[in-house]
Amino acid sequence: MPRRKKKLRVGIIGVGGIANGAHMPSYAKLQDLVEMVAFCDIIPERAQKGAEMYGAPGAKVFKDYQEMLEMKDLDSVSVCTPNKFHAPITIAALKAGKHVFCEKPMAITAEEADKMVKAAKETGLKLSVGYQSRFSDDAQLLKQMISSGELGEIYYSEATSIRRRGVPTWGVFLSKELQGGGPLIDIGTHVLDLTLWLMGDYSKPVSILGASYKKLAPLGGYNAWGPWDPKNFEVEDSAFGLVRLESGAAVMVKASWALNMEDPQPIILCGTKGGASIVDGSAKVYTQAHNRLLNLIPVQSPGRDSLYNREIAYWVDCLINNKEPLVKAEEAAQVTRILELIYKSSDEGKAINLI
Ligand SMILES: NC(=O)c1ccc[n+]([C@@H]2O[C@H](COP(=O)([O-])OP(=O)(O)OC[C@H]3O[C@@H](n4cnc5c(N)ncnc54)[C@H](O)[C@@H]3O)[C@@H](O)[C@H]2O)c1
Repeated sequence: MPRRKKKLRVGIIGVGGIANGAHMPSYAKLQDLVEMVAFCDIIPERAQKGAEMYGAPGAKVFKDYQEMLEMKDLDSVSVCTPNKFHAPITIAALKAGKHVFCEKPMAITAEEADKMVKAAKETGLKLSVGYQSRFSDDAQLLKQMISSGELGEIYYSEATSIRRRGVPTWGVFLSKELQGGGPLIDIGTHVLDLTLWLMGDYSKPVSILGASYKKLAPLGGYNAWGPWDPKNFEVEDSAFGLVRLESGAAVMVKASWALNMEDPQPIILCGTKGGASIVDGSAKVYTQAHNRLLNLIPVQSPGRDSLYNREIAYWVDCLINNKEPLVKAEEAAQVTRILELIYKSSDEGKAINLI
């Protein structure tokens, strides 16, 4: 990207794990284009530390995001708080004239997500959501293959994110109130987004059967990120949903933080001309030629930038050059809608039909 005289002025709201692990270092890589001028966290030391590590000279620190949004010379914010605050902070930021990059999931409910989309439309500002998996080389390749019709019509898919024991034990991930749910809304959201985007199918969900479980959470035991406290485990430990879209396509969603099954398991896309799977970002294509069945495996190019760096670089390019974000707010709202319906079906113990 060319150098420009006035840098994009960015603020961070919620200076925890993802801000430190992705947003701030990724903006810092673009220092010719971006400066981080404001940091906000309800734990002031976190905002202060962010400002010290990544802030431009004179960067401001806030405890209350409303005060930060009063800054006139702030172009865009990254919303990196627990899920519950994504919608109110995003809407307030858009109304205050700031573009917003909101972490995933976009919101807890479809109603909130729709309000975020509406606020972006009304203000004419950009809104995108942190689905970095779309930026992997193999996801980009599959997107091109599917868009150009090489796999035909994708009529069945599996959006799968299975962790055998990978319960996030930091932050507030186990809080129903602050996060809205467990693995389905936390990691199921990533794979459902990737799957729908690759299918290019955002038609209305018409039938949904969901089932969520809290079977292993009370038992404790080994966990990749250290033991969890069963008393604080308020959300599901696994969830599954079968969704039929108006297009006729069916999407099976599977997500777990704890399940007695080998992980990882693939995302699956089945089309009329071919199929594809993705495991840990690596794709495989299932096709046929000359009366033979054929599997294609992309050769990985070494040393590419991290997905977070690509995602943030793309976002910054969109703001500077007035391009459309790769992750559109309406698409992220559709993911939120489907996940909410899976939870609803599970809670009600029956299928939901919206025809
Ligand atoms: N894209 C990804 O793969 C990815 C990975 C991890 C987390 N996330 C998302 O990022 C968000 C944060 O997750 P995390 O792991 O960084 O959690 P975290 O708990 O480490 O950080 C959240 C921070 O927000 C602060 N905060 C809470 N309420 C606030 C408010 N009202 N105003 C300002 N600050 C507030 C907390 O004090 C904390 O420092 C979640 O929505 C999560 O789903 C995305």
